[in-house]
Amino acid sequence: MRRILVAGNWKMNTGRAEAIELASGLVEQHGTAGPVDVMIAPPFVWLDTIAAVVRGSAVQLAAQNAWCEPSGAFTGEVSAEMVAGVGCGWVILGHSERRQLLGDTDELVGRKVTAAFSAGLEVILCVGETREQREADETDVVLTRQLLAGLESVDAGVVDRLVVAYEPVWAIGTGLTATTVQAESAHAHLRNQLAVRYNSNVAEATRILYGGSVKPDNAADLMSQPNVDGALVGGASLSAESFLAIIEAASGA
Ligand code: PGA
Repeated sequence: MRRILVAGNWKMNTGRAEAIELASGLVEQHGTAGPVDVMIAPPFVWLDTIAAVVRGSAVQLAAQNAWCEPSGAFTGEVSAEMVAGVGCGWVILGHSERRQLLGDTDELVGRKVTAAFSAGLEVILCVGETREQREADETDVVLTRQLLAGLESVDAGVVDRLVVAYEPVWAIGTGLTATTVQAESAHAHLRNQLAVRYNSNVAEATRILYGGSVKPDNAADLMSQPNVDGALVGGASLSAESFLAIIEAASGA
């Protein structure tokens, strides 16, 4: 059985006090483990502080990115080892904003994924097509390419620490959401590709999250799909109320 995971990607949002308040609110409401796994990904600069807030609770902590080398002359970067050292169990890699705005190529994402696994982290690997690619009927091809490039050097021994997130670029922050049929189809495709790359056990065990304008009112529908194992939530994770409502919806899915 795959446990549902609801992850909040705060992106480059929250000031220090706001971050503490948001995390504290979640810990208050979701301090002990329930039927759904809950994770938050604050900006790097708050990770140390937020690690202290969530310590001992069921709220798990992720970084939004990490570099592909453990240390060295990479001004402005943060390594997976540093992320692990600050108390994160997880890192999000290959988010479309990094791919589109910040220079993450398929190849670089693959190197980051490998480095993150080496550092002992669990990884949320994001993949997703643009609107143009969907309209050109290239969705499956793009998803396959991004998935396989991300997992290029990842062997089956560590893949139990992998979560995949399907995030159609056209749905991120736009208020547009994939229909349940579109989401289920993409997730089923990704699961098939995991079976081809590894084996059917890996494919069956790996959680595949949906991301892209997930809100309290569409979360239950999306997560009721057989291959949708949770959500990666951006905008709606910035309010404890709406994030908790999504967790609540997920609990019934
Ligand atoms: P959104 O972002 O929920 O604001 O669309 C999702 C994401 O980018 O992870």
